[in-house]
Amino acid sequence: MACCLWRYRCRILLCLCTPCILFGCLFIYLALAVCLSMTYSIAPVGLPLLPPYFVAPGATNSGLLAPYPINSFWKYELNKEAHWNMIQQLIDRQHNPILQPRMGTSGNFSSLDNSSSDSIQQQKVGCFPNYEVIWTLSDYFSLPSQMQRFVISMHCRDYPLLIDQPRVCGNASQQHQMEAPMLLLAIKSQAPNFENRQAIRKTWGRSGLVKGKVGKGGQVRRVFLLAKNHSGHNLDTVKSLKEEGRKYGDILMWDFFDTFFNLTLKDVLFWDWFSKNCQDTRFVFKGDDDVFLRTPVLLDYLQKVEVEAHANTSGHSRPIEDFFVGDVITSAAPMRSQTTKYYIPDSFYNGMYPSYAGGGGVVYSGALVLRLLEVSKRVHLFPIDDVYLGMCLQRLGVVPIHHPAFLTFDFPNDEAKKPCAYQTILLVHKRTPKEIRKLWVKTKNPSYKCRKVALRSDQSEKEKKGT
Ligand SMILES: *[C@@H]1O[C@H](CO)[C@@H](O)[C@H](O)[C@H]1NC(C)=O
Ligand SMILES: *[C@@H]1O[C@H](CO)[C@@H](O)[C@H](O)[C@H]1NC(C)=O
Ligand SMILES: *[C@@H]1O[C@H](CO)[C@@H](O)[C@H](O)[C@H]1NC(C)=O
Ligand SMILES: *[C@@H]1O[C@H](CO)[C@@H](O)[C@H](O)[C@H]1NC(C)=O
Ligand SMILES: *[C@@H]1O[C@H](CO)[C@@H](O)[C@H](O)[C@H]1NC(C)=O
Ligand SMILES: *[C@@H]1O[C@H](CO)[C@@H](O)[C@H](O)[C@H]1NC(C)=O
Repeated sequence: MACCLWRYRCRILLCLCTPCILFGCLFIYLALAVCLSMTYSIAPVGLPLLPPYFVAPGATNSGLLAPYPINSFWKYELNKEAHWNMIQQLIDRQHNPILQPRMGTSGNFSSLDNSSSDSIQQQKVGCFPNYEVIWTLSDYFSLPSQMQRFVISMHCRDYPLLIDQPRVCGNASQQHQMEAPMLLLAIKSQAPNFENRQAIRKTWGRSGLVKGKVGKGGQVRRVFLLAKNHSGHNLDTVKSLKEEGRKYGDILMWDFFDTFFNLTLKDVLFWDWFSKNCQDTRFVFKGDDDVFLRTPVLLDYLQKVEVEAHANTSGHSRPIEDFFVGDVITSAAPMRSQTTKYYIPDSFYNGMYPSYAGGGGVVYSGALVLRLLEVSKRVHLFPIDDVYLGMCLQRLGVVPIHHPAFLTFDFPNDEAKKPCAYQTILLVHKRTPKEIRKLWVKTKNPSYKCRKVALRSDQSEKEKKGT
């Protein structure tokens, strides 16, 4: 009897408790779901609502609407799978050139600079790591450490200059007395690469008046772009670099760690420095400290560009605002293999890269630098510097010009061994300081046979492929 009573109680207990437990579980599940959806909806705060389609203003005055598309023509959904795309989409939406025509793609950004919510949040008082991204990047903990370090510090770009050269391009307030330089060489270097810098100073990076091979040439200036050493003793490094800067007047050093994924900072901070110190310089070469550049031939080429631009604007000599030339790479996709240093995970970037020029060496106009600086305030930093430059150009509507004489991936096959090979190029990547010195002498005094050899052109490339 006692046994049956106990069983009976047990059953009642079971009947009562099971629903309770189930309800409890359901409640916890709902609470979790609500919480999760709330954390995801944090990002789009302040996101302007998009109309389903765009009707041109003015068309309504007549009482008739302009023809408009039936489907929406922008993406409502945020790309939540890829961190960079999502945060960039928020900024791009705020600067949608159709909804905000005064912001145009090529137009005047400076009028907006005041409203801080428009540009990427930059913390003026120090840069603190942003640990919140750990929760928005689904696989943060399985990413390589350089990627982890990048995402928690990518909002920050206000690093002070430790070593400055305010007089490289002449004294700004006296510039009318002195001709502005034609070309500024901005070379990415690292503290230990003293030999590379010496070779460049003695050869293709000489500052002063440089004659062209055929043309009159122009004034050339040089700066090296450096940052702090991650592992070394920086007190000594800064001291010796300061000394080097005093001696040669060409060292710029910023207060951030000189890692591969921080190279984009060198571009952005250089543009800022340029806008303050070298505004009137006509062209900028930006490249690595292991390239060989034929500066005199480059000056001839740039002179031709200026003459053409002058002719095209029917005699008005305005600065060239959209000149960008290099070894242009189109339809490249991010590398998805963890073993390369260029690895970009799916959770960070989604889609193809825009056209960009290989980072070994590119040339652009000084007027374009000022526009790049403005637009870069609306483009989130990207870990690969040449791709970032491509992203900025794309937003400015500037199409980079491909020049086959920029060999950022060296000569094809073993063409380098041909007798006049180096007479056909403007630039070649990956040369040691010793090779740079040798090549400089060799290309300055070419043999009689090589003297008249022309630069590589698309034409000559095609002919080679055809044969
Ligand atoms: C950009 O806008 C600012 C402020 O409205 C104005 O002073 C400046 O002249 C404009 N620049 C150009 C190139 O239109
Ligand atoms: C931004 O604009 C406000 C008024 O509109 C002005 O008081 C403030 O000084 C401006 N800030 C900057 C940095 O120009
Ligand atoms: C530039 O020239 C002005 C006037 O001669 C002078 O006062 C100023 O100190 C100079 N600046 C630099 C950085 O040399
Ligand atoms: C940092 O310093 C160490 C030792 O001082 C040196 O071996 C290394 O090459 C340096 N790295 C960079 C990027 O400057
Ligand atoms: C870039 O430099 C900053 C400042 O030194 C540092 O906090 C950050 O971790 C660096 N980023 C990478 C990817 O190394
Ligand atoms: C100038 O015009 C010519 C022909 O119209 C064109 O081939 C050339 O690319 C133009 N140059 C520039 C710098 O716009």
